[in-house]
Amino acid sequence: MRGLSVAGASAAASPLLLGLAAAAPHKQRAPQYVVNKQRADEVKEAFQVSWDGYYKYAFPHDSLRPVSNTFADDRNGWGASAVDALSTALVMENWDVVNQILEYIPTINFDNTTTEVSLFETTIRYLGGLVSAYDIITNSLSLGIQKQPDVEAILTQAKRLADNLKVAFDTPSGVPDNSLYFNPPRKGGSTTNGLATTGTLILEWTRLSDLTGDSEYAELTQKAESYLLHPEPALGEPFPGLLGTNIRIEDGKFEDGNGSWGGGTDSFYEYLIKMYIYDPERFAEYRDRWIAAADSSIKYLVSHPTTRPELTFLALWRGKELRFSSQHLACFHGGNFILGGLTLGEQAYTDLGLALVEGCHATYVGTATGIGPEVFAWQDSQLPLNASNNQPPPEDQTAFYEKSGFWITNGHYVLRPEVIESYYYAYRATGDTKYQDWAWDAFQRINKTCRVGSGFSSIKDVNAPDGGGFDDFQESFWFAEVLKYSYLIHAEDAPWQVKADNTNEYVWNTEAHPIRVAGGK
Ligand SMILES: *[C@@H]1O[C@H](CO)[C@@H](O)[C@H](O)[C@H]1NC(C)=O
Ligand SMILES: *[C@@H]1O[C@H](CO)[C@@H](O)[C@H](O)[C@H]1NC(C)=O
Ligand SMILES: *[C@@H]1O[C@H](CO)[C@@H](O)[C@H](O)[C@H]1NC(C)=O
Ligand SMILES: *[C@@H]1O[C@H](CO)[C@@H](O)[C@H](O)[C@H]1NC(C)=O
Repeated sequence: MRGLSVAGASAAASPLLLGLAAAAPHKQRAPQYVVNKQRADEVKEAFQVSWDGYYKYAFPHDSLRPVSNTFADDRNGWGASAVDALSTALVMENWDVVNQILEYIPTINFDNTTTEVSLFETTIRYLGGLVSAYDIITNSLSLGIQKQPDVEAILTQAKRLADNLKVAFDTPSGVPDNSLYFNPPRKGGSTTNGLATTGTLILEWTRLSDLTGDSEYAELTQKAESYLLHPEPALGEPFPGLLGTNIRIEDGKFEDGNGSWGGGTDSFYEYLIKMYIYDPERFAEYRDRWIAAADSSIKYLVSHPTTRPELTFLALWRGKELRFSSQHLACFHGGNFILGGLTLGEQAYTDLGLALVEGCHATYVGTATGIGPEVFAWQDSQLPLNASNNQPPPEDQTAFYEKSGFWITNGHYVLRPEVIESYYYAYRATGDTKYQDWAWDAFQRINKTCRVGSGFSSIKDVNAPDGGGFDDFQESFWFAEVLKYSYLIHAEDAPWQVKADNTNEYVWNTEAHPIRVAGGK
């Protein structure tokens, strides 16, 4: 869908020259959406089952072990699944669960934990979950919550948590230490931080500043991000906008030029365009850096497998040398390119996004369970087949590769959302019900293979018909992400739904918690 109105000369320019993208957000026409109540209701049912199992056997611990009906405190024991489930319960208007969680939130002791705290995980799950709930309840919901909740308590708890995390930024450069301990709060002593763990804080912390009027949270994360916007030395930016992974805490310098759109680096790129959506005035430079990364991805990373050259994947890089491997985690990139294309009015980004969605769809339909693997690889169709970085699959996967266009290097599925997430963005951009059908198919496959005991569990092998056994673990992002995307793609339009015509009232953090944009009505 091409933008209807076009500002300046940039619209005609090739995407590779997009440094001059229109300064004003672009107007596009929103497609018609189809509500499918029966599917939406079945996703709600799965949410209820998952919640009931968690509430019975694990609450207020972090995660349910659904096979053994026990729990794990993998996220500091503050009730990660409850906080991660809240924004999904709100958008599903599941008031019983909303009330259970709202009663619990003021009681969480965010001053104490016995285990190491990850600044990144705590930010995206807890801080993101709290700020999102505050935004949704104060702006977009008036009905259904039986007792008027103590909304300010949600924000007070978010602030209390961030105040305990702030010590992470007390480093010579301002690049935070991702590992912390509490009681009293102190740094873990890392010498480097990662691109994603440094660059995926700014949305949640800036929102907290905007809500509380205390600018310190935004300033801390923007100082850290400054090293990512202006990477040094040159080895840290092997292609314009595409960076390395490890940043020295001492001086903010990159240690390497290895990266990808996958784990460890992924959401840094995701947040560049999302910050521009959050506030186009304050974050125009972030948009420009997203454009640089997107243009370099089109120019250098796009790859097609030898056996199915119609499929599109993105390679990862070791300096300037490519590796032809990708991950379930990376499959958010289709949705992120689509979001960038819609926001900037640049069809080339949307087109690449839709092609990446097709590629990730192929990783689902190619396996015995109909669920995609954690890590996969392929042989690039353009590079010589004898190149050291372009080797064929292991012999036992030759036939699989012939048929599917990829082979499996790690067959786990841990209830990740990214493929359905990208279907959601593709659907919101195009209104093409094919993407609803794909999301429904994936959801049914996950329901068939991962539903066990008192909830849903990670599985060991997506290419074994029964999933190859259970890891007995229900991740908190199952609530925050998989169930939310699977539901909203079939649900009625609402203020938090992603908009195709640049009228977004919310921008979603990387844990799928909708955060109100700065200029939100
Ligand atoms: C922190 O939690 C641990 C484990 O529950 C407990 O032993 C300790 O007394 C608590 N400390 C404070 C100051 O609350
Ligand atoms: C970058 O990748 C190369 C090639 O795989 C590897 O030898 C090197 O150790 C990596 N560097 C870092 C800092 O991870
Ligand atoms: C690959 O094959 C070509 C053509 O046979 C040859 O010229 C080239 O040296 C080979 N490269 C490697 C890395 O073996
Ligand atoms: C999920 O599985 C349950 C139990 O087998 C079944 O009752 C339900 O209809 C399934 N839902 C979907 C959406 O497949």
